[in-house]
Amino acid sequence: MKMEQTLVLIKPDAVVNRKIAKVIGRFEDKGLKIEGMKMVWIDEELAKEHYKQHISKSFLPRLISYITQAPVVAMVISGPEAIKTVRNLVGDTDPLKALPGTIRGDLALDLDSGNIIHASDSNGSAMKEIELFFTAEEIYSY
Ligand code: PPS
Repeated sequence: MKMEQTLVLIKPDAVVNRKIAKVIGRFEDKGLKIEGMKMVWIDEELAKEHYKQHISKSFLPRLISYITQAPVVAMVISGPEAIKTVRNLVGDTDPLKALPGTIRGDLALDLDSGNIIHASDSNGSAMKEIELFFTAEEIYSY
């Protein structure tokens, strides 16, 4: 069993629409552990660094403006194969395609309204993203 850590951001639309507890509940109900958690208002510099692999994508300006419009809740979530487990719980990028039972399938409407959550897509991204949002002292083993 491979224990992993992953970074999750509850995005501004979910924060503004009071969905924080529902999203966190999905991870806790599954049995995953929250090892770090804080509210962050992402600025343009941090947004560009976080999404730098999408520098050439036409949707980048929209994505930067979306992620900086209100605070996010950043979490380090751990568990067995946490990266894949969390991505499975989150569902398809496009809420219109996300299956019922997934977080986006149940709590989000479409990409224009926002897809409410970000989750690291690989071990490499998870390590970089955790370091971008958290210091070692802000992550607790228990
Ligand atoms: S790609 O092209 O496969 O790398 O893109 P993908 O992994 O699906 O998405 C990368 C991030 O961009 C967000 N995204 C969008 N935001 C706004 N509008 C549109 N059309 C759009 N398409 C993709 C997507 O949610 C990913 O962000 P995160 O925060 O990782 O979910």
